[in-house]
Amino acid sequence: MTEQGRQIAAPWRDPTFVAAWTAGDAMSDMLAFPRRLAAALVAADRPEVRTVIDIASGPGAFLVCFLEEFPAARGVWSDASEAMLDRARESLAPHTERVEFRPGDMTDLDAAGLPAGVDVIVTSRATHHLDRAGLITFYREATALLASGGWLVNLDHTGPDEVWDKLFRAVRARFAPPRPETKHHHNYPLPSVDDHLSAYAAAGFTDVEIAWKAFHTCLFMGRKPA
Ligand SMILES: C[S@@+](CC[C@H](N)C(=O)[O-])C[C@H]1O[C@@H](n2cnc3c(N)ncnc32)[C@H](O)[C@@H]1O
Repeated sequence: MTEQGRQIAAPWRDPTFVAAWTAGDAMSDMLAFPRRLAAALVAADRPEVRTVIDIASGPGAFLVCFLEEFPAARGVWSDASEAMLDRARESLAPHTERVEFRPGDMTDLDAAGLPAGVDVIVTSRATHHLDRAGLITFYREATALLASGGWLVNLDHTGPDEVWDKLFRAVRARFAPPRPETKHHHNYPLPSVDDHLSAYAAAGFTDVEIAWKAFHTCLFMGRKPA
């Protein structure tokens, strides 16, 4: 595991923190729409999806969306937290015969034992912890696991400029009330929209869209060139 990976994973190794975060995940409902939208858009382009990997999957909500959209697909759950693995086994129980659990570090995907040539890689609310170099490495290593024409989907918080950061923070609590007990360390400023788009470009993507955005959170969708 890399030093950056260890730092990011540290709070998530505590079962008490994971239980509090999962119970108080005020954003999860708000993210149901972009998760479903991502699965629908991939289905419209690539109806024959066979394998989906969810990196830093946590309880697995994003993976569940794809397993529901693609009933013949198998899913690969990946995360660095044993406590999250327990959660995920519960929430993915209805799909368990189609899911492989692969504990691993998102900052070293080459060593995470993930399958290659997959149709879709999703990740959510995790890459904002990475520094710029880590973000570029993440996109490059994830892209190497994708089949040609496969999709790299990232639903994550981004760092806007100061004016919009203040405005978003001023109203966000009305839609997703903050839960102080689930606060965890972030490196500010978070990677910006441009940082993500540059990292996609550096990984060879020419076809990337922000398919949804609310407050700081963006649904980035990129299709690997055929
Ligand atoms: C905010 S949660 C998001 C979980 C899920 N993707 C979601 O959106 O509901 C962040 C997740 O990143 C995982 N994580 C933290 N550090 C990691 C690392 N180095 N490698 C892989 N996963 C990591 C945590 O265990 C946790 O499940």
